[in-house]
Amino acid sequence: MAQNTVRQMATPDTEEVRSIIEGLSLPEKMISPKYFYDEAGSRLFDEITRLPEYYPTQTELGIMQQNIDDIAALVGEQASLIEFGSGSSMKTHVLLQNLHSLAAYVPVDISEEHLLASAGALRADYPHIEIIPVVADFTKPFDLPTPAIMPVKNIVYFPGSTIGNFEHEDAKALLEVMYTEAGDGGALLIGVDLQKDVAILERAYNDGAGVTAAFNRNMLTHINREYGSNFDVDAFRHDALYNQDEGRIELRLVAKTAQTVQLGDATIEIDAGEGILTEYSHKYTLEGFKELAASAGFAVERVWTDEDQLFSVQYLVRD
Ligand code: AVJ
Repeated sequence: MAQNTVRQMATPDTEEVRSIIEGLSLPEKMISPKYFYDEAGSRLFDEITRLPEYYPTQTELGIMQQNIDDIAALVGEQASLIEFGSGSSMKTHVLLQNLHSLAAYVPVDISEEHLLASAGALRADYPHIEIIPVVADFTKPFDLPTPAIMPVKNIVYFPGSTIGNFEHEDAKALLEVMYTEAGDGGALLIGVDLQKDVAILERAYNDGAGVTAAFNRNMLTHINREYGSNFDVDAFRHDALYNQDEGRIELRLVAKTAQTVQLGDATIEIDAGEGILTEYSHKYTLEGFKELAASAGFAVERVWTDEDQLFSVQYLVRD
C-alpha cells in the first residue's frame, strides 16, 4: 500500500501563545483542552480510560462490540472510514476488523507525530486496508485524499464523546464539517455520553487515585515546558463539578495562592481561589443530541446504548 500522508497544517508557536494569553485575559480565565495532550498527558488520559470510575471508554467499547454486526450492515461494503482523531483506540480496531471490505481508513489529526505512529502500527495490523493519515485541524473543512479503491460512501467516525468538549454552537459547526466531509450518501458514527446521576458523573472526573487531577495539572506543566511560562503547577488544585443547567462537567484548575505568571510578553495575575477553566464535557439526552444533529443537517438513524443508558453510539445520516 502507498505510504502517503496528507499535511494541511502549520501553526507557529507564537499563535498558540497568543491564543493562550487571550483565554487567560477573559473575565473567566480558560485554556483549551487541546493542551492536555502532550506525551505525559496522553499517557495520563490512557490511564483515565482504565479507571474504574471512568465509565465512558469501557461502556462505549462494549456497545461497539455488542452491536458490531448491526453497525457493519449499516455501513455496507467499500466505505471509506474517516476518523476524526488519530485512531489509536480499541474501538477503531473493532471497526477495522469487522467492517466489510473497507475502501480506505483515513485518520485525521492535528498531531503529526501521534498520527503517523498510530497509522504505522495500523498498517502492520491491516495490510489489506489502505491507510491514509491526514494531518489537519478537523474543526475546519479539509481536503479528503482519493483512495485507490473508489469509496461507495464516506463514514465519519468520532468516538469517545469528544463532541462533549464543544459548546453547542461549536459542536454544531463541527457536525457541519462532518456533514461536508461525509458527502453525498455519507454518514456519521459518533459516541455521545449521556446525562445521568450527578454522583456517577462527578466520580468519573474525581477518581480516587488522583489520575484526573494529575491530567488536569499536567496542562500547566506542558505549557511551561513548551512556551517557557512559569505557572506554579503545585499551587493549583483540580476541580470537577457537574453544571446541571448547562448539562456538562466543568474542569478547572483553582489557584491555592495568588500568582503572577509570565507567558510570552504577557504578565498574568491570578488571585488566590481563582479558577482556570480547562475543559467542558457536555452530556446529552437522546432528545437533546437529536436536536443538535438536526441543526447540522443530520437525522439519527440508529442509537445503541448499554443497558444502564450510560453512553450512546449513534449512526447519523445526511438528511
Ligand atoms: C476525551 C473529552 C471525551 O470529556 O470525558 C476525561 C476527557 N477529561 N477526564 C471527557 C477527560 C477528564 C474526555 N474526552
